[in-house]
Amino acid sequence: MIVVIDGPAGSGKSSTARAVAHELNIQYLDSGALYRAVTYLFLESEQSLPKFFESLYSVQLTFKFDNEFQVTLNGERITEAIRDPMVSEHVSRIAAMTKVREYINALMKKTVQNDLYIADGRDLGTAVFPKAECKFFMIADLEIRAKRRHQELNTNGIKVSYSEVIAEIKRRDKIDSTRDNDPLKQADDAILIDSSAFNFDE
Ligand code: CDP
Repeated sequence: MIVVIDGPAGSGKSSTARAVAHELNIQYLDSGALYRAVTYLFLESEQSLPKFFESLYSVQLTFKFDNEFQVTLNGERITEAIRDPMVSEHVSRIAAMTKVREYINALMKKTVQNDLYIADGRDLGTAVFPKAECKFFMIADLEIRAKRRHQELNTNGIKVSYSEVIAEIKRRDKIDSTRDNDPLKQADDAILIDSSAFNFDE
């Protein structure tokens, strides 16, 4: 069984999915973290794109939910490194590539086969898990999303200004919702939640 939450950057999907997973003692799958991991790999590898696509299938990308969503690449913990502003800057461009989406989608479909999951992303309810038992689409006003993300980054010791955060969110939202491959979109059968006026518990 899988529950999915899609939505734009900073709408509250990851925090909500994590909290629900804790509360119900089920697994959490952070699909954005996987796109970030592949982006990190690309930036580190300095390979041409065709070589990079080939190498994808020989890397060891592992992940588990243990209080937080932990990601390992070829044995190296990259849970924190994938939140670096450099990765955020490039992730939407890498995530728009068909070969990257095929790789991550196959990985996710295999992962969720044998357990109960809540997952968050952009296209889970529309493209990856169209038969998900329960679908949500979370939104919030741009300034509120940017404020939340700015606070989150600062709490984690990543120093970026509010104006940088808002510009990056705007840019990413645009690429994510206008790309040809499975863009960010609300599924017809998803429940819409606007979290703009809610605090986290609400
Ligand atoms: O920063 P935020 O938590 O909102 O984003 P994320 O969930 O970490 O996802 C990072 C990026 O991965 C997004 O901006 C999308 O470009 C891409 N992504 C995607 O294309 N499809 C998904 N299902 C999840 C993420």
